[in-house]
Amino acid sequence: MSNENRKYKIKIEFHIILITEGRQTNYFMDRPIKHKVYVTRKIPEPGPSILKNRFQLKMNPRVDVLKSENLIQNVRGAYALMCMLGDKIDSSVMDAAGPNLKVISCYSVGYDHVDIDEAVKRKIIVTNTPNVLANTTADLTFSLILAAARNLIKADRHVRTGDWKFGWTPDLFLGYDVHGSTLGIIGLGEIGTLVAKRARGFDMKVIYHSKTRNRDIESELDITYVSLEELLERSDFVSIHVSLNKDSFHMIDKSKIKLMKKTAFLINTSRGKVINERDLISALKNNIIAGAGLDVYDNEPISRSNGLTQLPQTVLLPHIGSATFMTRSKMAEVAANNIVNFFHKRGIVYKIN
Ligand code: DGY
Repeated sequence: MSNENRKYKIKIEFHIILITEGRQTNYFMDRPIKHKVYVTRKIPEPGPSILKNRFQLKMNPRVDVLKSENLIQNVRGAYALMCMLGDKIDSSVMDAAGPNLKVISCYSVGYDHVDIDEAVKRKIIVTNTPNVLANTTADLTFSLILAAARNLIKADRHVRTGDWKFGWTPDLFLGYDVHGSTLGIIGLGEIGTLVAKRARGFDMKVIYHSKTRNRDIESELDITYVSLEELLERSDFVSIHVSLNKDSFHMIDKSKIKLMKKTAFLINTSRGKVINERDLISALKNNIIAGAGLDVYDNEPISRSNGLTQLPQTVLLPHIGSATFMTRSKMAEVAANNIVNFFHKRGIVYKIN
């Protein structure tokens, strides 16, 4: 190739480094590719700016789930689709997008809302946002453990509603100690590991069960691998951190809950369908276990008539594991960069298929 030709082959590219509040963001400024990218719901900055600079960005300005007919309408002709929990991305959505669709970028670490087999068949890459939300979700897991064990929500309500009549009383809202208790972690991925780390600060004994045993983390965090059955029998708090798939669907059912201590709590910040919710409600009604702290449910949102809402020994949150300003913004950055890096063939693309 002559020098003259080589000159025209050189890609025009420059970097801008922005330093905001101590965080460095490296924006690669490429010649924009004006492919259509569709984002199913409004995501925070810097996600939209990253995409707007390089693609023809179409973003639903609302945060609630699109009706499937609207999703199908809007996704037409997209090269990339950014979706999130509650969006059902199946063959009909992929058909509507058409053959241009190359990437489905999940604005989440979980990807059970995407038909992965269908994406594989069509050679569509599916990406997610690992690393950035594990600490935030581990924090929330601990909030649930503490709130459930120490009756925080009921006690708060007691004060607000003016029911607190007698000052300090010997038996007001007696709960269970978290420090020194045994924590059973099901699933020792990123989030499970960070929950184990936090438990050390509470002098908890940590046991875990996971698909794969991790001896390095065992020695680093002084935790012990046990069978699922032993974990359920020994734990004061059982915390679930597995992804939802055909093996984990309803892995905690009546027969498993029966193994737990009467004084134990079940905590779930992973996916609701890992627990058979009907079995859990019945176990709580019959005092088979002491309580549950849940951020996720079989069907979201749950209705006011869902049995869980009628039980005083549950703490129920509306799927907010990763919900901090900082983390949602980092998730938006990673999800947007997964698309940019894929089309520009460089940088990290967090592929899950
Ligand atoms: C995830 O990312 O999968 C969480 O459930 C929502 O942030």
